[in-house]
Amino acid sequence: MMTKNMVIALSRPHVLFFLLLASSLMQCHSRCNFLDENLSTTNIKGMFVFGSSVVDNGNNNFLQTSTRANYLPYGLDFPVAPASGRFSNGKNVIDLLAKLLGLPFIPPFLDPLTKGLRMARGVNFGSGGSGIRDETGSVTGDVMSLKEQIMAFEGTTLGELEAELGCGSKESLCHFLFVVGTGSNDYSFNYFLQSPPDSDADTDEKLQAFTSNLTASLSQYFQKLYGLGARKFVLMSVNPIGCYPYVKASRPMVRVQSMNRAARLFNSNLVSLVNDLPARLPHSHVVVVNAYKIIRDILKNPSPKVQDSRIPRSRAARSGRWHRAGTGYFAGGVG
Ligand SMILES: *[C@@H]1O[C@H](CO)[C@@H](O)[C@H](O)[C@H]1NC(C)=O
Ligand SMILES: *[C@@H]1O[C@H](CO)[C@@H](O)[C@H](O)[C@H]1NC(C)=O
Repeated sequence: MMTKNMVIALSRPHVLFFLLLASSLMQCHSRCNFLDENLSTTNIKGMFVFGSSVVDNGNNNFLQTSTRANYLPYGLDFPVAPASGRFSNGKNVIDLLAKLLGLPFIPPFLDPLTKGLRMARGVNFGSGGSGIRDETGSVTGDVMSLKEQIMAFEGTTLGELEAELGCGSKESLCHFLFVVGTGSNDYSFNYFLQSPPDSDADTDEKLQAFTSNLTASLSQYFQKLYGLGARKFVLMSVNPIGCYPYVKASRPMVRVQSMNRAARLFNSNLVSLVNDLPARLPHSHVVVVNAYKIIRDILKNPSPKVQDSRIPRSRAARSGRWHRAGTGYFAGGVG
């Protein structure tokens, strides 16, 4: 029997796949009319996605914001539609996870086409530049905060899903994965704008108070989703935000280190939060993806991934102008 909640240092996507497969065997009955019963390789019927540019797959195209990825080189290697709004040269982590689970591309909430059958396998609410705090990212224009994303899910999507599947959301949602990837912009586009990392204002105490507030809020949002029927969660840790190309290019080393330190503090709070969840959210499963470690390992040792001659190099890599980060290449972009 697997422990209910686990914290894993994920190095290969199939590890997550097997964990999800195992967790999908838990009790979760329903009379819903799920699509393509035999398509999915697991009992996961779809995915609801919340967060920042790590997961956004096109919502910001429909918002008045400078945080956009609908121009090249974004999407240079994306097979379906270049410059779709994903903050990546190719598929993002949600696309890859969907593929492993036998799901189609998860459509962005703000796309007017995302309704009826098209949302029956889940919806992506992620908005680049957004964060856990309501005001995060507002310097870049209009982005959907985590609160707004969850309100959209509850206020619009749930009703449509019930109509589509012919059952109550309490019955259907336990068959969906809830993926949350957010937090980095609360530092990049909020905390560190007010307290530059090399200023005296950046005290440990202040950073810890801010970080505790972030994880306390996140905990409330989990409670909210759980109340609506969510049971299977995937939570992504914050990346080494000090290593983003735009930070390294424009800021002295002390800032790079401060920002990475903040990310590590957030991630350790995240682990405590997840360890506390089973008591408060019975029968829930939470997997934390250690994205920080994955990205740091790639940055430290890119050669096995990039220089393996059996792996065709992407157009972005061949051009030599873009920096590899995670599943894609951030062209000096933002979170
Ligand atoms: C799914 O698979 C089951 C068992 O193999 C089969 O009986 C059923 O007809 C299949 N459903 C569809 C929609 O293909
Ligand atoms: C986090 O801080 C904001 C702004 O001060 C406050 O409104 C909110 O209630 C705090 N959240 C928690 C969970 O403490």
